[in-house]
Amino acid sequence: MQTTVPAVRARKGGVPLVMVTAYDAPSARIADEAGVDMILVGDSVAMVVLGYDDTLQVTVDDLAHHTAAVARTHPRPLVIADLPWMSYHLGVDDAVRNAAVLIRAGAQAVKLEGGRKRTPVVEALIDAEIPVMGHIGLTPQSVHAMGGFKVQGKDADAAAALVDDAVALADAGCFSIVLEGVPDRVARLITEAVPVPTVGIGAGRWCDGQVLVFHDVVGLEDRITPKFVRRYGALKAAGIAAVSEYAEDVRAGRFPSDAESYHLADGVVVGLYGSSGGNVAATS
Ligand code: KIV
Repeated sequence: MQTTVPAVRARKGGVPLVMVTAYDAPSARIADEAGVDMILVGDSVAMVVLGYDDTLQVTVDDLAHHTAAVARTHPRPLVIADLPWMSYHLGVDDAVRNAAVLIRAGAQAVKLEGGRKRTPVVEALIDAEIPVMGHIGLTPQSVHAMGGFKVQGKDADAAAALVDDAVALADAGCFSIVLEGVPDRVARLITEAVPVPTVGIGAGRWCDGQVLVFHDVVGLEDRITPKFVRRYGALKAAGIAAVSEYAEDVRAGRFPSDAESYHLADGVVVGLYGSSGGNVAATS
């Protein structure tokens, strides 16, 4: 059954929600068959798949391209697409137009970063019937303003500001809020303060759900392991082993085998090669 925005909202305080990123059809199928609740087509695609150093490099068209690939698999999880940097900073009309591109690409909701100051945008999107997920704490689109990818809300004032941001986003109509890179007890305060589910990444256990990046979960990404990542697979190592074996087989003449090749009918072979046709030794 298709997961809907109201179904996600109704999970507040219930069985924890599971969200994972996906950026293409194979990862979307894996997430779907694994039974997650939500797929996030995150702007982390910039760093995880496209090789950039931050998330600021991707555009609405990039996100639409990846969202469409995910949506073509018709997954059961709710598909949420990230509004990339500069797609909602220049005014509410621009934000609604950009969000519509992602919805037309196949997303059922969009996510944006920032707290109270984003509420006019959130309200305009909801007015246009576009469900919005909030995202506060360590917001990667603010990497330069934060001075790096740093845990947020570490003192009492900063923690209180995050609670205020979360309440403002929920009041503006966000159906859920991602809490990234905040101390667990701050996430707990926020989770208790808002009537919508919080989804944590590096925010501890007291959230209504968790999100991780697909490539981290399956072990396709192994260059850095942030504290909050748990790897459940070793697909990079499995991939290297598989491609190495393939290379060895090609170099040793073991691939392709006869069974992995297409063959001519006998009559056609004789026509092409004469009566000695089909003599493998003669043609090799
Ligand atoms: O883009 C992304 O992957 C995200 C998650 C880290 C929440 O925003």
